[in-house]
Amino acid sequence: MSRKAANIISAQVIMKPDAVLGLATGGTPVGTYAQLVEWYRKGDIDFSEVTTVNLDEYRGLAKEHRQSYWYFMHTHLFNHVNICPERIFMPDGSNPDKIKVCKEYDRIIKNVGGIDLQLLGIGTDGHIGFNEPGGAFELGTHCVDLTESTIEANARFFDCREEVPRQAYTMGIRTIMQARKVLMIASGEKKKKIIKEAFFGAVTPAVPASILQMHPDFTLIGDAGALAEIDL
Ligand code: F6R
Repeated sequence: MSRKAANIISAQVIMKPDAVLGLATGGTPVGTYAQLVEWYRKGDIDFSEVTTVNLDEYRGLAKEHRQSYWYFMHTHLFNHVNICPERIFMPDGSNPDKIKVCKEYDRIIKNVGGIDLQLLGIGTDGHIGFNEPGGAFELGTHCVDLTESTIEANARFFDCREEVPRQAYTMGIRTIMQARKVLMIASGEKKKKIIKEAFFGAVTPAVPASILQMHPDFTLIGDAGALAEIDL
Protein backbone atom coordinates (compact mmCIF):
# COMPACT_ATOMS: atom_id res chain seq x y z
CA MET A 1 0.00 0.00 0.00
CA SER A 2 2.71 2.45 1.01
CA ARG A 3 4.78 1.76 -2.08
CA LYS A 4 1.84 2.12 -4.46
CA ALA A 5 0.85 5.41 -2.84
CA ALA A 6 4.44 6.64 -3.04
CA ASN A 7 4.47 5.64 -6.70
CA ILE A 8 1.44 7.80 -7.45
CA ILE A 9 2.90 10.74 -5.50
CA SER A 10 6.25 10.49 -7.24
CA ALA A 11 4.55 10.16 -10.64
CA GLN A 12 2.71 13.40 -9.85
CA VAL A 13 5.97 15.16 -9.00
CA ILE A 14 7.73 13.78 -12.09
CA MET A 15 4.87 14.92 -14.35
CA LYS A 16 4.65 18.31 -12.62
CA PRO A 17 7.82 19.20 -10.66
CA ASP A 18 6.12 22.22 -9.07
CA ALA A 19 3.10 20.20 -7.96
CA VAL A 20 1.06 21.20 -4.92
CA LEU A 21 0.73 18.15 -2.68
CA GLY A 22 -1.90 18.00 0.02
CA LEU A 23 -0.52 15.79 2.79
CA ALA A 24 -1.88 13.86 5.75
CA THR A 25 -0.52 12.70 9.09
CA GLY A 26 -1.46 9.71 11.25
CA GLY A 27 -0.17 6.16 11.27
CA THR A 28 -1.19 5.22 7.73
CA PRO A 29 1.09 7.48 5.62
CA VAL A 30 4.29 6.81 7.60
CA GLY A 31 5.39 4.01 5.23
CA THR A 32 4.56 6.13 2.18
CA TYR A 33 6.74 8.97 3.44
CA ALA A 34 9.56 6.53 4.26
CA GLN A 35 9.37 5.21 0.69
CA LEU A 36 9.48 8.72 -0.77
CA VAL A 37 12.53 9.51 1.38
CA GLU A 38 14.23 6.34 0.12
CA TRP A 39 13.57 7.25 -3.52
CA TYR A 40 14.73 10.82 -2.87
CA ARG A 41 18.02 9.47 -1.47
CA LYS A 42 18.45 7.35 -4.59
CA GLY A 43 17.93 10.45 -6.72
CA ASP A 44 14.62 9.32 -8.16
CA ILE A 45 12.44 12.16 -6.91
CA ASP A 46 13.13 15.86 -6.50
CA PHE A 47 11.07 18.03 -4.13
CA SER A 48 12.88 21.30 -4.84
CA GLU A 49 9.89 22.90 -6.59
CA VAL A 50 7.11 21.11 -4.70
CA THR A 51 4.66 22.97 -2.46
CA THR A 52 2.86 21.16 0.36
CA VAL A 53 -0.31 22.03 2.22
CA ASN A 54 -1.24 19.75 5.09
CA LEU A 55 -4.78 18.77 5.89
CA ASP A 56 -4.90 19.76 9.49
CA GLU A 57 -3.22 20.76 12.74
CA TYR A 58 -4.22 20.66 16.39
CA ARG A 59 -5.36 24.01 17.77
CA GLY A 60 -3.28 24.99 20.77
CA LEU A 61 -0.06 23.11 20.01
CA ALA A 62 3.17 24.95 19.21
CA LYS A 63 5.02 23.79 16.09
CA GLU A 64 7.81 22.41 18.28
CA HIS A 65 5.41 20.22 20.29
CA ARG A 66 6.30 16.60 19.61
CA GLN A 67 2.69 15.75 18.78
CA SER A 68 2.05 18.69 16.47
CA TYR A 69 1.48 17.75 12.87
CA TRP A 70 4.22 20.22 11.96
CA TYR A 71 6.64 18.11 14.00
CA PHE A 72 5.26 14.88 12.50
CA MET A 73 5.71 16.05 8.92
CA HIS A 74 9.26 17.25 9.56
CA THR A 75 10.20 14.03 11.31
CA HIS A 76 8.78 11.73 8.65
CA LEU A 77 9.34 13.67 5.43
CA PHE A 78 10.41 17.31 5.29
CA ASN A 79 13.68 16.96 7.23
CA HIS A 80 14.84 14.25 4.85
CA VAL A 81 14.12 15.69 1.39
CA ASN A 82 15.04 18.85 -0.52
CA ILE A 83 11.74 20.62 -0.01
CA CYS A 84 11.99 24.38 0.29
CA PRO A 85 10.84 25.48 3.82
CA GLU A 86 9.02 28.50 2.33
CA ARG A 87 6.81 26.14 0.36
CA ILE A 88 5.61 24.11 3.38
CA PHE A 89 2.18 25.15 4.65
CA MET A 90 0.05 23.97 7.55
CA PRO A 91 -2.70 25.68 9.55
CA ASP A 92 -1.05 27.67 12.36
CA GLY A 93 -2.04 25.63 15.42
CA SER A 94 -0.25 28.00 17.76
CA ASN A 95 -2.59 30.86 16.82
CA PRO A 96 -5.87 30.70 18.78
CA ASP A 97 -7.60 33.18 16.44
CA LYS A 98 -9.82 30.70 14.56
CA ILE A 99 -11.20 33.12 12.00
CA LYS A 100 -7.78 34.48 11.09
CA VAL A 101 -6.08 31.08 10.83
CA CYS A 102 -8.83 29.55 8.67
CA LYS A 103 -9.15 32.53 6.35
CA GLU A 104 -5.39 32.71 5.95
CA TYR A 105 -5.15 28.99 5.15
CA ASP A 106 -7.86 29.16 2.48
CA ARG A 107 -6.03 32.15 1.01
CA ILE A 108 -2.74 30.21 0.95
CA ILE A 109 -4.34 27.23 -0.83
CA LYS A 110 -5.88 29.58 -3.40
CA ASN A 111 -2.61 31.47 -3.89
CA VAL A 112 -0.60 28.32 -4.59
CA GLY A 113 -3.10 27.46 -7.32
CA GLY A 114 -5.09 24.74 -5.54
CA ILE A 115 -4.06 21.18 -4.75
CA ASP A 116 -2.86 18.84 -7.50
CA LEU A 117 -2.87 15.67 -5.41
CA GLN A 118 -4.41 15.29 -1.97
CA LEU A 119 -3.33 12.31 0.15
CA LEU A 120 -5.89 11.15 2.73
CA GLY A 121 -6.27 8.60 5.48
CA ILE A 122 -9.66 7.69 6.92
CA GLY A 123 -10.88 7.52 10.50
CA THR A 124 -12.87 4.49 11.67
CA ASP A 125 -15.89 6.83 11.87
CA GLY A 126 -15.36 7.96 8.26
CA HIS A 127 -13.65 11.27 9.01
CA ILE A 128 -11.23 12.77 6.49
CA GLY A 129 -8.89 15.46 7.74
CA PHE A 130 -10.69 16.36 10.95
CA ASN A 131 -14.07 16.53 9.21
CA GLU A 132 -16.10 14.51 11.63
CA PRO A 133 -19.49 12.84 10.94
CA GLY A 134 -22.37 15.31 10.70
CA GLY A 135 -20.28 18.25 9.46
CA ALA A 136 -21.24 20.21 6.36
CA PHE A 137 -19.80 19.15 3.01
CA GLU A 138 -19.47 22.75 1.80
CA LEU A 139 -16.96 24.04 4.36
CA GLY A 140 -13.52 25.44 3.66
CA THR A 141 -10.87 25.48 6.41
CA HIS A 142 -12.51 25.60 9.83
CA CYS A 143 -12.00 24.83 13.50
CA VAL A 144 -13.56 21.62 14.85
CA ASP A 145 -14.23 20.06 18.22
CA LEU A 146 -12.76 16.57 18.11
CA THR A 147 -15.17 13.72 18.80
CA GLU A 148 -14.59 11.32 21.67
CA SER A 149 -13.68 8.53 19.20
CA THR A 150 -11.00 10.69 17.53
CA ILE A 151 -9.60 11.79 20.90
CA GLU A 152 -9.53 8.13 21.90
CA ALA A 153 -7.81 7.07 18.65
CA ASN A 154 -5.21 9.84 18.88
CA ALA A 155 -4.46 9.32 22.58
CA ARG A 156 -1.96 6.59 21.57
CA PHE A 157 0.41 9.33 20.39
CA PHE A 158 0.25 11.32 23.68
CA ASP A 159 1.41 10.46 27.21
CA CYS A 160 -2.19 10.40 28.37
CA ARG A 161 -5.70 11.06 27.02
CA GLU A 162 -5.98 14.39 28.87
CA GLU A 163 -3.09 15.75 26.81
CA VAL A 164 -4.90 15.32 23.48
CA PRO A 165 -6.06 18.75 22.27
CA ARG A 166 -9.84 19.10 22.03
CA GLN A 167 -9.88 21.18 18.88
CA ALA A 168 -8.15 21.26 15.50
CA TYR A 169 -7.99 23.34 12.36
CA THR A 170 -8.82 21.33 9.27
CA MET A 171 -9.26 21.78 5.56
CA GLY A 172 -12.97 21.38 4.87
CA ILE A 173 -14.60 18.85 2.58
CA ARG A 174 -15.04 21.57 -0.03
CA THR A 175 -11.28 22.18 -0.08
CA ILE A 176 -10.58 18.45 -0.34
CA MET A 177 -13.13 18.00 -3.14
CA GLN A 178 -11.49 20.82 -5.08
CA ALA A 179 -8.17 18.94 -5.21
CA ARG A 180 -7.55 17.78 -8.77
CA LYS A 181 -6.71 14.23 -7.65
CA VAL A 182 -7.47 12.55 -4.35
CA LEU A 183 -5.56 9.49 -3.12
CA MET A 184 -6.77 7.65 -0.03
CA ILE A 185 -4.74 5.02 1.76
CA ALA A 186 -6.20 2.64 4.33
CA SER A 187 -4.61 -0.18 6.20
CA GLY A 188 -5.70 -2.86 8.64
CA GLU A 189 -8.89 -4.72 9.47
CA LYS A 190 -10.06 -1.92 11.74
CA LYS A 191 -10.80 0.11 8.61
CA LYS A 192 -12.67 -2.58 6.67
CA LYS A 193 -16.19 -1.66 7.85
CA ILE A 194 -15.84 2.03 7.18
CA ILE A 195 -14.24 1.46 3.77
CA LYS A 196 -17.26 -0.58 2.71
CA GLU A 197 -19.71 1.94 4.15
CA ALA A 198 -17.95 4.98 2.68
CA PHE A 199 -17.52 3.68 -0.87
CA PHE A 200 -20.35 1.19 -1.30
CA GLY A 201 -23.00 2.94 0.78
CA ALA A 202 -24.92 6.21 0.60
CA VAL A 203 -23.23 9.58 0.16
CA THR A 204 -24.03 11.27 3.46
CA PRO A 205 -22.46 13.76 5.90
CA ALA A 206 -22.84 10.98 8.49
CA VAL A 207 -19.88 9.34 6.67
CA PRO A 208 -17.72 12.28 5.54
CA ALA A 209 -15.49 10.18 3.25
CA SER A 210 -18.53 9.03 1.27
CA ILE A 211 -18.53 12.33 -0.65
CA LEU A 212 -15.37 11.09 -2.41
CA GLN A 213 -17.65 8.83 -4.49
CA MET A 214 -18.49 12.06 -6.33
CA HIS A 215 -14.87 13.10 -6.94
CA PRO A 216 -13.85 12.80 -10.62
CA ASP A 217 -10.35 11.48 -9.89
CA PHE A 218 -10.34 9.46 -6.70
CA THR A 219 -8.09 6.47 -5.98
CA LEU A 220 -8.30 4.21 -2.95
CA ILE A 221 -5.34 2.02 -2.06
CA GLY A 222 -5.86 -0.41 0.75
CA ASP A 223 -4.09 -3.44 2.13
CA ALA A 224 -5.86 -6.79 2.37
CA GLY A 225 -7.23 -6.02 5.84
CA ALA A 226 -8.81 -2.70 4.92
CA LEU A 227 -10.32 -4.12 1.71
CA ALA A 228 -11.52 -7.35 3.38
CA GLU A 229 -15.23 -6.48 3.08
CA ILE A 230 -15.09 -5.33 -0.51
CA ASP A 231 -16.03 -7.87 -3.14
CA LEU A 232 -13.33 -7.17 -5.71
C1 F6R B 1 -4.45 13.19 9.54
C2 F6R B 1 -5.88 13.14 9.26
C3 F6R B 1 -6.78 12.06 9.73
C4 F6R B 1 -6.20 10.66 9.56
C5 F6R B 1 -7.17 9.60 10.09
C6 F6R B 1 -6.60 8.21 10.02
O1 F6R B 1 -3.86 14.34 8.98
O2 F6R B 1 -6.31 14.05 8.65
O3 F6R B 1 -8.01 12.15 9.06
O4 F6R B 1 -5.93 10.43 8.21
O5 F6R B 1 -7.51 9.89 11.41
O6 F6R B 1 -5.53 8.12 10.90
P1 F6R B 1 -4.55 6.85 10.93
O7 F6R B 1 -3.77 6.90 9.68
O8 F6R B 1 -3.68 7.10 12.15
O9 F6R B 1 -5.42 5.65 11.05
